[in-house]
Amino acid sequence: MIVALEAASRPAPWTQVRGRVALQRDYGAGHLWLDLEVPRGFRDPVPGQFVQLLLVAPAPVLLPRPMSVASVRTVGGRSVLGFLYGPVGAGTLALSQLTRGDTVDVLGPLGRGFPLEAPGTPVLVAGGRGVAPLLFAADGLRRLGRRSEFLFGARSRAQLVGLDDARRRLERMGGRLHLATDDGSRGLEGTVLDLLDKVGPRLAPPLVIHACGPHGMLKAVAEWAMARSIPAFLAMESQMACGTGVCRGCPMPRSEKARALYVRTRGDAPSLFGNAEYAMCCTEGPVFEARDLDWERVE
Ligand SMILES: Cc1cc2nc3c(=O)[nH]c(=O)nc-3n(C[C@H](O)[C@H](O)[C@H](O)COP(=O)(O)OP(=O)(O)OC[C@H]3O[C@@H](n4cnc5c(N)ncnc54)[C@H](O)[C@@H]3O)c2cc1C
Ligand code: FES
Repeated sequence: MIVALEAASRPAPWTQVRGRVALQRDYGAGHLWLDLEVPRGFRDPVPGQFVQLLLVAPAPVLLPRPMSVASVRTVGGRSVLGFLYGPVGAGTLALSQLTRGDTVDVLGPLGRGFPLEAPGTPVLVAGGRGVAPLLFAADGLRRLGRRSEFLFGARSRAQLVGLDDARRRLERMGGRLHLATDDGSRGLEGTVLDLLDKVGPRLAPPLVIHACGPHGMLKAVAEWAMARSIPAFLAMESQMACGTGVCRGCPMPRSEKARALYVRTRGDAPSLFGNAEYAMCCTEGPVFEARDLDWERVE
């Protein structure tokens, strides 16, 4: 399975282009939505892939910032990439100041996306802003004629970012939305893990999970899935510089099984995918299968 998926989801070749802001708007819960129009020839990212956004100089930060693609649509023959992001530091704050017509450099598409062709009833598990790339995945599944069960959790109703949008889009796609909040202000009182416990057994087996959210949540989802022998694919994050496997700045600890596979397929020589001990999040990920990571060492 691991080898088959590896072959099926080889990293797409990337290009660097100048994108133009088509829209920047408040998305609620302290987040913004950004639409960037990219020139013709930029390969459309698939759900789970990301791009590196580099502010045009002079800028307050030197390095590009990684951002998951939340939507791709075609307007007037050009692709428009959508992003849901939180302004948390100098780079994303500067990004939030851009207005329609401003430019930003876009490197991508990068990394490996969700293997949407993986068999089973698709269960999408989102925490916080992880909702956006997973709605993109739900759309990809719909195109494959598959309906998703969409589990969305946050601390409270106010932090269910883009909830109305999620509801509308899933309704259109024929997907089913299940909610959980820690404080019970919307949906089940509890975490998305409690939601998995409740909803999972009611769904037609076998299940396949695709998840995006904070690492703590992803670790819990990975352990839940592995304990039940359910395949789970998790979109991980890391601090990144190059986004292309060169700087070695985004290591993710491999599980024993994945270490053995690396040695068997690539020898012990380092590659753009990392080395036997660590996978680079930007090239081998950001979407990893649960059993390929050593969750005790994931930060
Ligand atoms: C593959 C990938 C996809 C991502 N997709 C999104 C997305 O769709 N929407 C979004 O809002 N953010 C996303 N991020 C995180 C985003 O890249 C960071 O928030 C951003 O780089 C912060 O840059 P900054 O200059 O604003 O903040 P900095 O000044 O660099 O950092 C501000 C704070 O954010 C923390 N931080 C920086 N990078 C990350 C990270 N990767 N994960 C968690 N904390 C971080 C820093 O430790 C620091 O505490 C993604 C990251 C990766 C690796
Ligand atoms: S960001 Fe440079 S190797 Fe991953």
